[in-house]
Amino acid sequence: MDKIKVGVLGATGMVGQRFVQLLAHHPWFEIAALAASERSARKAYGEACHWVISGDMPAVIKEMVVQESTPDLACRLVFSALPAKVAGPIEEEFAAAGYAVSSNARNHRLDPDVPLLVPEVNPDHLALIETQRRKRGWKGFIVTNPNCCAAPLALALKPLWDRFGITALSVVTMQALSGAGYPGVPSLDILDNAIPYIAGEEGKVESEPLKLLGRLEGEAIREATMIISAQCHRVATREGHLEAISLKLGQEASREDVVETLRDFRGTLQDLGLPSAPERPIVVREENDRPQPRLDRDEGEGMSVVVGRVRECPVLGYKFVLLGHNTIRGAAGAAILNAELLAAQGYLDF
Ligand SMILES: NC(=O)c1ccc[n+]([C@@H]2O[C@H](COP(=O)([O-])OP(=O)(O)OC[C@H]3O[C@@H](n4cnc5c(N)ncnc54)[C@H](OP(=O)(O)O)[C@@H]3O)[C@@H](O)[C@H]2O)c1
Repeated sequence: MDKIKVGVLGATGMVGQRFVQLLAHHPWFEIAALAASERSARKAYGEACHWVISGDMPAVIKEMVVQESTPDLACRLVFSALPAKVAGPIEEEFAAAGYAVSSNARNHRLDPDVPLLVPEVNPDHLALIETQRRKRGWKGFIVTNPNCCAAPLALALKPLWDRFGITALSVVTMQALSGAGYPGVPSLDILDNAIPYIAGEEGKVESEPLKLLGRLEGEAIREATMIISAQCHRVATREGHLEAISLKLGQEASREDVVETLRDFRGTLQDLGLPSAPERPIVVREENDRPQPRLDRDEGEGMSVVVGRVRECPVLGYKFVLLGHNTIRGAAGAAILNAELLAAQGYLDF
């Protein structure tokens, strides 16, 4: 089949570069347009972009001219890695002009008619697209992926939620520097340090899993009912967000039940052959000192989350440590997997 032409908005940033890397040799998608701010527009990508992720900038992309983020790009699908301060209206303009928008930005995640999607968790929420188009009169639409901590969290919670229920959850994050974009946190603030505040982050981690694990009822999502308390910290790792989780299950379960439920989780995507779907969305490790960001973040090409140290918690029942790659499963890889599901289900045939 012909590849689907795609564009990347915010292509020069931290997440935008990850999109470019993951899309450069994608079997279904082909980069047809790169867009960013006025600062980068009309420059060659190789000149406009200060490449900061490992591996070289793909040669085919270097000479492409960066465009403005306006809805006149030669493609059908755009991935948005725009900062929240501008993403909202720009993504709406693209959707209104007939583009499918797969967004990383927070702006539309909690809109009642916009799917907040992790394909292994809530693929049925895509049905909101029809409601969205009808209500807003758009030819295109917006689909979003969760925050970089909420995405791995929802993935790890999904099998536990389905089998046992969850009533309360505490999560303490240790988040990598790349999560702050480029140039991000000044080195003198973070070297030899950890910062116990990331603006707006705790609210996202507390709210987004409730929509993701919610049930589609008619044209709306009924949110999952559990209490989540999040404390978010910036630490001096480059990539890979670590989350220390304690939770209270809705019913009795042995440690073996919990481990087996996490380890056996596959989601419902296996038959669709989505190129970015990992064989094992959740990898469980038994060593006392894993997962670690440097050693484990690339599990499943960065699309698997890694769980370790599953043990009893005297306060809530069980606790474990979770690791997710923030710019892959928590951002670009997540949006690409969402787009693969859109393609597989015919949402890009327009
Ligand atoms: N980093 C992560 O781990 C992560 C994870 C999940 C979600 N996100 C979300 O993904 C988005 C991008 O984050 P990031 O970390 O990649 O940020 P970033 O490194 O600061 O990159 C921002 C990008 O947006 C472009 N941009 C800035 N102002 C613009 C404007 N007025 N119009 C058009 N383009 C503009 C920049 O282009 P120029 O180079 O031309 O300035 C750059 O390409 C944010 O919404 C963020 O919250 C990030």
